[in-house]
Amino acid sequence: MRKFATLLAVVMVAVFSAGTIVAADAPEKITIKDIQKTKTPVTFPHKDHSTKLGIKCAECHHKDAAGKEQSCFACHKAEKKGETPSFKDAMHDKCKGCHQKMGKGPTKCNDCHKS
Ligand code: HEC
Ligand code: HEC
Ligand code: HEC
Ligand code: HEC
Repeated sequence: MRKFATLLAVVMVAVFSAGTIVAADAPEKITIKDIQKTKTPVTFPHKDHSTKLGIKCAECHHKDAAGKEQSCFACHKAEKKGETPSFKDAMHDKCKGCHQKMGKGPTKCNDCHKS
């Protein structure tokens, strides 16, 4: 029994520290600004998406090497530019698109844009 408890503690420490490595890399919660001030900012549970839901970083940070993730806004601006969709379209495609596909997560305007 004692041995088991010790083993369990070791396993828990291992799991916990593996978790913190990921946590250090992925911001916990992000407020995504409404750059054109036409809607309300969107609160995005960033860490939950990569840990609890297990979505790979590169699924969203599709142009960045691991560990070099940058803001989507670095490339996606207020207006569409050449091949690069606008920030709004990139967000809607990515966020709403996945929620619709999975039948889970918010899909209605006010679910994301709390007014
Ligand atoms: C899954 C979440 C989600 C849903 C659902 C959603 N949006 Fe958004 N939307 C965003 C995010 C994230 C942004 C970028 C941040 C921001 O502008 O608040 C955005 C941006 C916008 C913008 C640009 C705002 C600005 O000032 O830059 C408009 C307009 C907008 N959404 C309208 C809508 C409308 C209308 C609906 C419903 C038909 C909708 N959105 C549904 C997440 C969502
Ligand atoms: C479901 C989509 C999604 C997943 C999965 C995701 N991210 Fe993000 N991440 C975002 C969005 C959206 C932002 C905010 C971008 C903005 O403000 O333009 C962001 C912001 C960041 C930022 C801050 C960038 C900056 O300079 O402001 C870092 C760092 C980051 N993510 C790292 C990660 C890492 C590491 C992982 C995987 C462990 C990950 N992300 C998984 C969507 C995601
Ligand atoms: C280094 C520049 C860059 C960054 C950073 C970037 N994108 Fe993109 N994105 C692009 C370009 C360029 C396209 C046009 C199509 C292509 O080349 O893949 C694009 C296209 C898209 C599309 C359209 C569908 C597709 O995949 O082609 C979505 C959705 C998208 N980006 C979401 C995001 C999100 C969400 C983030 C942040 C987590 C992000 N992008 C960060 C450059 C970038
Ligand atoms: C690849 C799939 C995928 C992508 C991309 C994605 N989500 Fe989600 N999201 C989910 C799933 C699945 C859930 C439902 C989780 C649940 O019900 O437990 C969810 C839930 C949410 C919730 C509700 C969380 C809660 O606690 O109720 C918000 C808010 C949200 N997502 C915002 C976003 C935003 C903003 C983006 C884009 C930056 C985004 N999501 C991108 C899959 C995704």
